[in-house]
Amino acid sequence: MTYKIAVLPGDGIGPEITAQAVRVLKAIESSALRFEMTTAPVGGAGFDAAQDPLPAQTLAICEASQAILFGSVGGPQYDALPRAQRPEQGLLRLRKHFDLFANLRPATVFPELAHASTLKAEVVAGLDILILRELTGDIYFGQPRGIRQIESGEREGFDTMRYTESEIKRIGHSAFQAARKRNKRVCSVDKANVLETTQLWRDVMTEVHQDYQDVALSHMYVDNAAMQLVRNPKQFDVIVTGNMFGDILSDEASMLTGSIGMLPSASINARGFGLYEPIHGSAPDIAGRGVANPLATILSSAMMLRYSLNEIAAADRIEAAVRSVLAKGLRTADIAMPGEAVIGTQAMGNAVVAAL
Ligand code: IPM
Ligand code: MG
Repeated sequence: MTYKIAVLPGDGIGPEITAQAVRVLKAIESSALRFEMTTAPVGGAGFDAAQDPLPAQTLAICEASQAILFGSVGGPQYDALPRAQRPEQGLLRLRKHFDLFANLRPATVFPELAHASTLKAEVVAGLDILILRELTGDIYFGQPRGIRQIESGEREGFDTMRYTESEIKRIGHSAFQAARKRNKRVCSVDKANVLETTQLWRDVMTEVHQDYQDVALSHMYVDNAAMQLVRNPKQFDVIVTGNMFGDILSDEASMLTGSIGMLPSASINARGFGLYEPIHGSAPDIAGRGVANPLATILSSAMMLRYSLNEIAAADRIEAAVRSVLAKGLRTADIAMPGEAVIGTQAMGNAVVAAL
């Protein structure tokens, strides 16, 4: 099989880390598995190239591909642009355009890195949770929104949190199906004690659960979930939640694993088409220095093989290669303990390629 992949490096450390994932994909090519990769600008790079964070040509390349490998977007030089031209819009528009409603953010602790977490090793060792974040609805996309002048003469900012029943149902089905392949427990996170939208969320989750009696469903308020994630994260299996709560909780969960530089993600639609990206951002402070950890992006390429291309053996091989470089003690700065030797982005990519 030859797969067409759109590679969108984006901004900051994005180009450095995606370059390593591209090398890893090339390294697993065989007569039966080939990748035709096309690189295109997005985010600030899209703005620089075409005054648009999602240039029409970039979107056309994505349309013609079977999956998108994405780096990261954003940078201080773009912060003053009107919202529609900011780098983040490139990513949000891709999510909406392809209806990538199911965002899988696994947080697993590699045994070698348990001590790299700011939490006690015994709290995080063996952790394996999946945050399933709804990605195309909620206050991120709800209308109306804006900043307006009110009668008193002052300005008022407003956004709209909203979810339709069908949007909640489909992410609910994804959550229960994911749990069936894991430890059969779903915790749905909401704020049903205060917000109407999330009362509906809770009611619909409970209804969808009727079809999945072999899976246990619990509900938790988001403030409690934020606390439980640092108190006893191993109580969770699958966490399903809305777009905004999922944004926040997944950053929190990433730190359980030692470094945000380790975590991949998949954003998938009903057809299995997906966008694969590290959950960390563009890290402008270290961009261009060759020190960023490419493993989250390399692991994202493994998720792409697993979820969009159904090349399970190739995905397993990449994940095993990452585990083996960690077992050998190779560390980028973000996952090194004081005194441990540190390698750069390219050297980490080399090590994964060599392990393959
Ligand atoms: C994420 C990011 C994005 C989000 C930004 C870059 C728009 O924080 O993927 O978690 O808020 O969804
Ligand atoms: Mg985020």
